[in-house]
Amino acid sequence: MSKITVIGAGNVGASCAEYIAMKNFAAEVVLLDIKEGFAEGKAMDLMQTQSLNGFDTKITGTTGDYSKTAGSDVCVITSGIPRKPGMTREELIGINAGIVKMVTSNLLEHSPNTIIVVVSNPMDTMTYLALKNSGLPKNRIIGMGGALDSARFKYFMATALNSPISDVDGMVIGGHGDTTMIPLTRLSSKCGVPASHFLSADELESVKGSTMVGGATLTGLLGTSAWYAPGAAVSTVVQSIVCDQHKMIPSCVMLDGQYGLSDICIGVPTILGANGVEEIIELDLNSEEKEAMMASAEKVRAVNALLN
Ligand code: LAC
Repeated sequence: MSKITVIGAGNVGASCAEYIAMKNFAAEVVLLDIKEGFAEGKAMDLMQTQSLNGFDTKITGTTGDYSKTAGSDVCVITSGIPRKPGMTREELIGINAGIVKMVTSNLLEHSPNTIIVVVSNPMDTMTYLALKNSGLPKNRIIGMGGALDSARFKYFMATALNSPISDVDGMVIGGHGDTTMIPLTRLSSKCGVPASHFLSADELESVKGSTMVGGATLTGLLGTSAWYAPGAAVSTVVQSIVCDQHKMIPSCVMLDGQYGLSDICIGVPTILGANGVEEIIELDLNSEEKEAMMASAEKVRAVNALLN
C-alpha cells in the first residue's frame, strides 16, 4: 500500500484526494496547503465520508509541514493560482513558476524517491520547470493534462455519437492549452469502429473544437477552473503508477527525439507504472497530425521561454 501527497487543498487538490481515497488503492493521502487549517479541515471532512463511501484510505492534512509528506510514493502538485474566466493557462506562469519550484524542492527533501505529478498551469511548462529544477530522471516527472483532455474528448465524442461512454475510445496529445491540444479524431472509435464511420468531417471538427476549449468553457460557467474531471484524471494517473497497472495514458513527459522533438515536455501516449513513465509510445501520425504536433510544440516552447 502506498502513501500519496497532494499539494494544494483547493478544489482540484481536494478532488484528487477524494477520488484517490474512493478508489481505495492507497494507504494514506496527505493534503498540504499554506492556508491555515484548510488542509486539515478538508482532510477531516473527507475522513467523515469513510463509513459512508466505504474506503479505508487515511487522509490527513497539514498547514505547510512537509515532514508529514515524508516517504511519499507519488506527490501531486496542484498549487498555484487557478485561471479565471477569460484567462489562458499561460497567463498564470509568473506566480505559479515560483510556487512549483519551491514545492518541488520541499517535496524531494522529504521524499527523495518520489514520482511527481504536475497539475499546476501552464502545465506543460510547469512540468518542464519541475524537471529542469529538480534534476530528477525524466521517468519520474509526469504532467497531467492528456488524461483530462482525453476524458473531455470522450465525453464530447459520446455525445455526438449518442453512445454510452463505455463504447467510446479516444486520445488527446500535444500541449494542455486551448490552442495546443490535439484531439486525435482519426483514431477515435466506437467499439473499435472508427468514429468517422458514424460522424461527418464537420461533426468530428466540432467534437475537436469543444474538447480544445473544454477547460475554458467550464471556467466561464464556474468562475474558476474545473475540478471534478481534473481530480478524477489525476487519480487515474496515480493509480496506474502505484498499482503498476501499465495503463496507456497520454501524459506530458520530456521527449528525447520521439516525435522529432527534444528538450520539451509535451503530451504523448505513455505507459505508466511503478517507475513512472515506463515507455513512450510513438504513434504513426499522418501529415496533418504531425504538423499539428510541431505547431503545438512551438507554442509550448514559446511559453517555456518565458521562464527565463
Ligand atoms: C483544466 C485545468 C485543470 O483544464 O487545466 O480544467
